[in-house]
Amino acid sequence: MTPMIYILNGPNLNLLGRRQPEIYGRETLDDVAAACAAIGAEAGLEIRLLQSNWEGQIVDWIHEAREAAAGIIINPAALTHTSVAVLDALNTFEGPVIEVHISQVHRREAFRHHSYVSHRADAVMAGFGVHGYALAMRHMAHLLG
Ligand code: DQA
Repeated sequence: MTPMIYILNGPNLNLLGRRQPEIYGRETLDDVAAACAAIGAEAGLEIRLLQSNWEGQIVDWIHEAREAAAGIIINPAALTHTSVAVLDALNTFEGPVIEVHISQVHRREAFRHHSYVSHRADAVMAGFGVHGYALAMRHMAHLLG
């Protein structure tokens, strides 16, 4: 069976492409899904890209991933900086976890410098724009051999 990668996206990322394009660019989450699916097809990985504005939904998808996914790529968005619940959920997942931020969070406000999710993430991407998802997919393929 083709290994499945969950690509989870937190609050406000449904507006990607329209939301603060000077920071997050003009590409949409559908563009991200298409790019990641193409890399997945090359690398022998299936993807499921999901987005929610609700913390509990992200937690539920992480629980689902425990059974359904070989790896998780996650842009927790604002939950990065607030959510012990997302961290605890990720700590129950056994495969590789890659954290992605479109913007270079360390060059932004101080409250964006701390990530709960980084306590679990095996790798962290920040500042690569939406290309960070594609890079994360390639690294995921490498990690999963
Ligand atoms: C973000 C950075 C977060 O600080 C912010 O709350 C987001 C997006 C990024 O992709 O750069 O919503 O995770």
